[in-house]
Amino acid sequence: MARKLLLLLLVCTSFLVHDVTGKRRKDKDREKQSLSENTENVCEIPDPNRSIDCFCDKAGYQNASDATCWLFYELQPDSVVWGYFTSQTNIEKLKINIRPDGILKYVPTWVLSQLRNLKVFDVLYGDIAEISPYAFANLSSLQEISMTRNKIIELKPYSFAKLPKLTQVTLDDNRITEIRREVFIGLPVLKSLYIDRNNLRLIYDRAFLHLYRLEELELNGNQLSVITRDTFMGLQSLKVLSLQDNRIKMLGEYTFNETPFLAELSMDRNGLQYINENAFHGLSQLHRLSLSENQLKSLPNNVFNDTPNIRFLDLRDNSLSMLSSETVRPIMESLKDVSTYFFVEVLAGFENVSMRSLRPRVPDVRTDRRTDR
Ligand SMILES: *[C@@H]1O[C@H](CO)[C@@H](O)[C@H](O)[C@H]1NC(C)=O
Ligand SMILES: *[C@@H]1O[C@H](CO)[C@@H](O)[C@H](O)[C@H]1NC(C)=O
Ligand SMILES: *[C@@H]1O[C@H](CO)[C@@H](O)[C@H](O)[C@H]1NC(C)=O
Ligand SMILES: *[C@@H]1O[C@H](CO)[C@@H](O)[C@H](O)[C@H]1NC(C)=O
Repeated sequence: MARKLLLLLLVCTSFLVHDVTGKRRKDKDREKQSLSENTENVCEIPDPNRSIDCFCDKAGYQNASDATCWLFYELQPDSVVWGYFTSQTNIEKLKINIRPDGILKYVPTWVLSQLRNLKVFDVLYGDIAEISPYAFANLSSLQEISMTRNKIIELKPYSFAKLPKLTQVTLDDNRITEIRREVFIGLPVLKSLYIDRNNLRLIYDRAFLHLYRLEELELNGNQLSVITRDTFMGLQSLKVLSLQDNRIKMLGEYTFNETPFLAELSMDRNGLQYINENAFHGLSQLHRLSLSENQLKSLPNNVFNDTPNIRFLDLRDNSLSMLSSETVRPIMESLKDVSTYFFVEVLAGFENVSMRSLRPRVPDVRTDRRTDR
């Protein structure tokens, strides 16, 4: 009888013990689940089949300031994985590289809105056909956006808006077809805008109207055929304008009248055939003008009247057979300046000089900003 009782007791306790450990395990599972839903550390995701992998400078909870992430699968906007970023809301520099099997079709605005200290946001190889209004979450800390090679086609109105500290936007190597008005709004300190190698055919009049601090605008490698005074309206601080490799056949009068501080203008390889004598009107600060590889047959006599400070002039590979001394007279003084090099010696005392004889004297034209800035 006593033995039977003992056995019963044993059975009972073993049930008890079993029940307790079972409960513990269940709690642990629940905890794990809630972790992975809310606070999984994005810098240390243990899942070997994780869809995103981030390398952080400091992996401690809320300690990362610099994160470089690789995306391996497609992430939907409501994926719990985006929630992992709430474990690192002090990130200042976030770079997302989309791997060949990864797909990212949108700017993760919700994630950005959590990162209140974000200064640099960089996405590479996404499939982000359009940038929607306020895509960058009105972040008051954001300074640089880089979205090279993301197959972007359309910039919606207000896509780059309400970013009071933004200084640089890079949209190179996308498929953007046009720039409408009201795309760039509320960017009081934007200094550099790079939209090279896209499919730009059209820039609406006054599209840059609000970018009064912009100093550098690069639009190389597009399909632009028409630019007018209205294209650049508002760019009162612009210093560098790059328009190489477009299809601009002519420059009408006062084209650059809205950009009085323009210092460098590059329009090589456009098929330029005609330049109005007032095209460069108002460009008293212009010191570098590059017009090589176009189809210019002549230049009007007064074309440089307003640009006495040109110190670099590249007219190589045009169809200019002659250049009258009358045309170059306004810039002769600065061309003679010993601190500048190019046409100087040849042009001194020149009359009607065959352009071919000038060619070897001209230094190579800079084409890639990454190598020289
Ligand atoms: C890994 O996860 C992705 C997406 O979450 C899924 O498509 C894929 O089949 C998973 N692979 C394995 C081996 O579990
Ligand atoms: C996070 O940073 C703080 C302050 O620098 C430090 O005390 C703490 O140990 C760090 N946490 C982890 C998990 O690294
Ligand atoms: C950004 O500002 C706009 C306009 O005020 C507002 O509609 C939008 O909801 C804001 N977005 C975020 C993420 O705060
Ligand atoms: C230079 O060219 C202009 C126009 O082609 C011509 O009128 C002028 O006589 C030429 N000057 C000289 C010195 O050949």
